[in-house]
Amino acid sequence: MTSTIVSSSGATTSMTTSTSYLATETGPLTLPISSYSFSSFPTPTLAPELPIFPATDPLNPPPVSSDPMVVPDFAPAWAAAYTKAMAMISNFTIEQKVNVTTGVGWANGLCVGNTPSVGDFPGLCLQDSPLGVRDTDLVTSFPAGITVASTWNRALMRARGVAIGQENKMKGINVALGPMMNMGRIAQGGRNWEGFGADPFLTGEAAYETILGLQAGGVQATAKHYINNEQEWKRTQESSNVDDRTEHEIYAHPFLRSVMAGVSSVMCSYNLINDTYACNNNKTLNDMMKREFGFQGFIQSDWSATMNGLSPVAGLDMTMPGDITFDSGTSYFGQNLTNYVMNGTISETRLDDMATRIIAAWYYMHQDENYPNATVDSFNFYDPINQEVNAQSDHYMIVREIGAAGTVLLKNEGALPLNKPKNIVLVGSDAAPPVSGPNEYTDQGGDPSGILAMGWGSGTNNFTYLVSPYEAIQARARVDQSSVFWDFDNWDLSKAGNSVIGMEVAIVFVNSDSGEGYITVDGNAGDRQNLTAWHQGDELILAVAAQNNNTIVVTNSVGPLIIEPWVEHPNVTAIVWANLGGNEAGNAIADILYGAWNPSGKLPYTIAKSPMDYPAQLVTGGTAADILSINYTEGLFIDYRWFDAQNITPRYEFGFGLSYTTFEYSDLAITTINPTADYAQMDLIDNWENGGATPIAEGSSTALWLHMPAYQVTFDVENTGSLYGGEVPQLYLHHSPSAGEPPSVLKGFTNVEVSPGQSASVSITLSRYDLSVWDVVRQGWAKPEGTITFSVGASSRDFRLNGTIPA
Ligand code: BGC
Repeated sequence: MTSTIVSSSGATTSMTTSTSYLATETGPLTLPISSYSFSSFPTPTLAPELPIFPATDPLNPPPVSSDPMVVPDFAPAWAAAYTKAMAMISNFTIEQKVNVTTGVGWANGLCVGNTPSVGDFPGLCLQDSPLGVRDTDLVTSFPAGITVASTWNRALMRARGVAIGQENKMKGINVALGPMMNMGRIAQGGRNWEGFGADPFLTGEAAYETILGLQAGGVQATAKHYINNEQEWKRTQESSNVDDRTEHEIYAHPFLRSVMAGVSSVMCSYNLINDTYACNNNKTLNDMMKREFGFQGFIQSDWSATMNGLSPVAGLDMTMPGDITFDSGTSYFGQNLTNYVMNGTISETRLDDMATRIIAAWYYMHQDENYPNATVDSFNFYDPINQEVNAQSDHYMIVREIGAAGTVLLKNEGALPLNKPKNIVLVGSDAAPPVSGPNEYTDQGGDPSGILAMGWGSGTNNFTYLVSPYEAIQARARVDQSSVFWDFDNWDLSKAGNSVIGMEVAIVFVNSDSGEGYITVDGNAGDRQNLTAWHQGDELILAVAAQNNNTIVVTNSVGPLIIEPWVEHPNVTAIVWANLGGNEAGNAIADILYGAWNPSGKLPYTIAKSPMDYPAQLVTGGTAADILSINYTEGLFIDYRWFDAQNITPRYEFGFGLSYTTFEYSDLAITTINPTADYAQMDLIDNWENGGATPIAEGSSTALWLHMPAYQVTFDVENTGSLYGGEVPQLYLHHSPSAGEPPSVLKGFTNVEVSPGQSASVSITLSRYDLSVWDVVRQGWAKPEGTITFSVGASSRDFRLNGTIPA
C-alpha cells in the first residue's frame, strides 16, 4: 500500500567522469582514449516502384490494410531532409553542432526532454508517453500498448497512433517517446503493459502501425527501448546476455519494423547487452540499427542512460535529458564532446552526422512548416499553459472501441452477453472510481483504489476524466431497468459473499498493477512480485462464487495472472480479460458485457497454470555495485514457443480468445507471387532460394526484395453462429527440426468481420524475410533447409487448416 517515489522520473547512474568505460560483469573497465575515424551510412534505397514500393512521405503513409502488401520507401523523404539539414549545419560552429545533440538538462524546459535552439533550428521538445501526452491536461488517456495489441487489428493500431500523434502535435511536442516494444520475456516485467506482448511478429506489426499513425499525426515517433530492457530491477546495472540469433529474430525484429515504418528516432536503453551498455554499443547501434536496418534518423539515450563521452563513436546521436545525472550540471556531450572533436578524438564528420540526423528528422516530419510551440509544463501541472490547448478532439470514441476490441473473452458458459438481468451486483474496488480522483498518484504510482486503466511510471499520462465500470454499467442498466447493487470493499469477504446471495448476476472486478522501477508500490519495485490478483482478488472471487452460481470475473491486469484458484469453479460462468482501457475503460467493459461489441480480442501472451511454467524469471538481488548477468538461456523460446517446445499445457494459450459467435475455416490455398519488376533483385532472390544468406550491406535486413510479398495464403472464414462478429485468423510456420526453430512461430494475422451464415475470403501474405532465420555464421537472413509447413487457426494451439510452403 505504500508508494515511494525515488525520483521524479527515470533512474540515474553514478558515473560522473568522462573516462571511457567498458562494463563487464565484474564492473567497468577503463579504455584508453584514442582517435576514432568515422564513415557515415548512406541511404539504402532503390528507385521507388509502384505499387509495392512507393516513395512515401511520413505525413502521408499508405492506407492501413489487414494484409499489408505495400512496403513504403521513406528513403527519398530522408534524402530530401538530409539535403536541408546539411545545408543548415554547414555554417554551424562545432559548439553549435554539439548543442543540437545535447539536451538542456533535467527540468530546464517545458518537456521531459528539450534541446536548445541553435541558429535557425528552434530545438526540440521530447515528451512521453506511449499512451498519450504525459504531464499535462486536456489530453486523452488511450488504452495501453498491451490492450491495442490484444485487438490484433491493424486498423485500430493505426487509428490509435494517428490520434496520439495529433494530440502531441496540438500540444507542440516534436518527439513522442513511444512506442515501447520490449518483449515481455518475463511475465512479471514491470513495463510489459506499455508494449505489445510476448511475440515479436505481433509486436512488430503493432509498432509498425503505431509509428505510421503517430507520424501521420505530425509527431516524430521514438522506437524504445533499444534493446533487451526486459526487467526493471537494476535496469541500469544488468547485462542482458543474448545470442545473436535470438537478438535478431526476437528482440530486434520490432525495431526493424519500426525502421520500415520510417521512424524518426530510436531510444537506447539503460541496460548492458553482452557486457556493453546499450547506449555505447557499437554492435546494436552502428552495426544493426544503422548499417543493417539502414536507419536514417537519430538515436537518443534513455534518460541518463549515456554512460560515457565516446558513445557517439558507438552510434549515439543525442544525450537526454543532457546532464549525466539529473541536475548534475555535467554532461558527457556538451563541452566534453566539443573537446573530443577539437582534439580529434571524435571526428567532426561524425559530429556532423549526429547533428544532421537530428535536424533531418525535423525536416523529414515537416516540423519546419508552422509547427506549434510546446504548450505543456511537465514540472508544474497547475501552470495554466497545460490548459491552453485542448487536444482531446473526439478521441474518446477510439479509446472506447479499442478498449472493447482489446478485451479478451476467456470463458463463457452462456452468461454473456447480459440479457436484461433483473438485478446485478458489482463487487470489488476495481469496479469503482478511484476514491481521490483519477490522478491519485504522481505518474499513477500508487496502489489503485479503483479501476486500473493504466500501469505506473513514465509510460502514463494524467486522466482528464476516467469512466469506471460502476458508472458505465449503472448507466447501461437503466435501459433494462435492472436493479444495480455494489460492494467495493475487497477486504470484508463475508460481506462480499452475502451481497451476492440470490442475485441474478454477480460481477467481480480484480486487478494487478506494475510499472517503472523508479516508483515502488506495495513492495513491487516496478516488476511484479507475483502473478496474483491484487487486494486478495482470488479470495474475493471465491467468496462471491461460493454464494452465486452466475459469477462473472472481469480483470484489469498489466499482464498474465495465475487464475487456477477459480478458473474452473463451476459458478464462475464467464471471464472477461479487459486489460488496461484508458479513460473509457468502464464503457468498453460495459460494451463487452452487454454485447454492444462482440468480443474479438486475442491474448498477446500465454496465461500459465504456474509462474514456474514460464521460460524466464526475474533476476533479483545484487549489491548496489553489482552488475547482474541475465542470461537469455531460453533463446528463441519465449512465451508460447517455450510451452509448445516443452509440452507444457497453458491455462490459456497465446492467441486465444472467444466470441459470442463461432467461426469455421475452409478452402486453404497458397500461391507463389512471382517477382516481376526490376527492383526485385533477382540475383539476390535466386541466391536466397538456393539457401544463400542476405549479403552484409547497408540496409540489408530491410531490403525490398526480402520484404515484398512472396506467397499468398487464402482461405474462407464462415460465421456459423447467430451474431455478427469479428475473428482474428492467425498463421503459424513450422520449420523442420534441423532449423532449430520453435514448433510454431507466428508470421501472419488478419481480422475479418462476418455476418451470421456468411463467409469472408481472407488473405495473408508472407515475405522471404518471414520464412528466414538469422544465420549467425553468414550474418544474414536465410531460408532454413527442409520443408516449411504452416497452420492457420484461431490461436497458437487451435489450428484449423494446414498447408506447405511450395518448395
Ligand atoms: C524511461 C523512458 C522515458 C524517459 C523520459 C525513462 O525513465 O525509461 O521510457 O521516455 O524516462 O521520461
